[in-house]
Amino acid sequence: MLFGGRSSEHAVSCVTAAGVLGAIDRTKYEVVPIGIARNGQWVLAGEDITGWSLTDGALPEVLAGDKTVSLAHLGGGHQLVVSEANEIPQELGSVDVVFPLLHGPWGEDGTLQGLLELSDTRYVGAGVLASAIGMDKHYMKVVFEAAGLSVGPYISVTDREWTVDPAKVRSRVEALGFPVFVKPARAGSSMGISKVDSLDALDAAVVEARGHDLKLVIEAGIVGREIEIAVLEGRGSEAPRVSLPGEIAMLDDEHAFYDFEAKYVQGSAVNLSCPADMPEDDVARIQEQAALAFDAVGAEGLSRVDFFYTAAGELIINEINTMPGFTPSSMYPQMWAATGLPYPELIDELLQLALN
Ligand code: DAL
Ligand code: MG
Repeated sequence: MLFGGRSSEHAVSCVTAAGVLGAIDRTKYEVVPIGIARNGQWVLAGEDITGWSLTDGALPEVLAGDKTVSLAHLGGGHQLVVSEANEIPQELGSVDVVFPLLHGPWGEDGTLQGLLELSDTRYVGAGVLASAIGMDKHYMKVVFEAAGLSVGPYISVTDREWTVDPAKVRSRVEALGFPVFVKPARAGSSMGISKVDSLDALDAAVVEARGHDLKLVIEAGIVGREIEIAVLEGRGSEAPRVSLPGEIAMLDDEHAFYDFEAKYVQGSAVNLSCPADMPEDDVARIQEQAALAFDAVGAEGLSRVDFFYTAAGELIINEINTMPGFTPSSMYPQMWAATGLPYPELIDELLQLALN
């Protein structure tokens, strides 16, 4: 199990790992929990991580240590080893499968998946390309549009475009109409995202988003319900499996949108419900589109696909997350639980998909 990592979603990943470690069937799996510190060092973690949560005020963190864990090529195959400066690496054993419980860049974006491919190690979830597409809010829209899905009006803004001609970017944003959402192209958990109601507030939002990624996506605000679908790869050559739709509803006016605070810190700010109250035909339509999105990016294992559902019944795809939040109370496991697949069985299913 790998968790933590170098992205701004480090703490969210830690809580995801705590949930999985607490629920995984230990009679079937021997778990080696490995945390990735913010500096990129891999360290062995203890059972105490199961106590981690986001609600007690202090965000959990993997700390760098003296002993480094790595995948090393020993005696003809890759082994998990632990080493200390100037010491001979000690074998921890071979790895059957890696569960990368990492969110954001250097974990959910194909980079870690590339490392695992190089070392011929099996892992849960999407491969290199699907992970990279799913991490980039610009390229995922390009792929969704090519697959015939509806995406909302947006522009992407590169570092060069903003640096060389910000006035041009401002006029492209005005053409979208306000409000807009300014987002780092490659981040998650609403990190660096601002809702902008007028041109005066744009530059500050751009600065905030650029703190996370120099490439941005700026989207026209869409009025609609937020509906999500959990997708699970089919067994063998079966089609992707889709959950009942889940809905996110904001319960107060304090949050301009489903931001980090509302998502993780202030549990009372949102209501997550599944199944969402929708006509049967629309349920079938959104499930079909979620499976199409999963296949369009070439996802494997799991993904959560997020939509806007307008009053006119239109479905606009917002994004796909190839390693969605995975604590027992996160939307992805909740939607599967409501669909008849409880959390421990879901974990087992994901590991079996990766092993077979
Ligand atoms: N990026 C967060 C973890 C999510 O999609 O749930
Ligand atoms: Mg995301």
